[in-house]
Amino acid sequence: MINGPNLNLLGTRETAIYGTDTLASIEARSRARASELKIELETFQSNHEGEIVDKIQGARARGVAGVLLNPGGYTHSSVAIRDALLAVKIPFIEIHLSTVSAREPFRQHNLFSDIALGTVSGLGGLGYILGLEALHELLGTKTR
Ligand code: DQA
Repeated sequence: MINGPNLNLLGTRETAIYGTDTLASIEARSRARASELKIELETFQSNHEGEIVDKIQGARARGVAGVLLNPGGYTHSSVAIRDALLAVKIPFIEIHLSTVSAREPFRQHNLFSDIALGTVSGLGGLGYILGLEALHELLGTKTR
């Protein structure tokens, strides 16, 4: 699970849009569901584009089967993160807490939806659980 910039501030950041769940609580809930599904879940958050690119590049060598990705603001700008995902060819599900399609025009430009297995948007922290379940269903026993 990879979370991009400013998602470390969940819980206090624009709570009317993103809710009051902290990233730690979302990660803990996801870890609990992952363990029920017998998925080995690693969580990572960074405010830095290059660190996210490095994490994605490294995922292939470590045998990661699938990625849950909330690129944060990079959703609308990062060719580099998109290219990393295409390079490693690891399937991923795009997650957004908010309903991005109902927000500002600049958020309608998305560099990930067309290459994601699917997108979960607008369901807050629940979106990560649903994304995890979808990865499990779609990748089956290969999920790691
Ligand atoms: C977000 C939506 C993005 O537009 C925004 O920049 C974020 C969070 C979401 O989860 O709803 O940082 O990815």
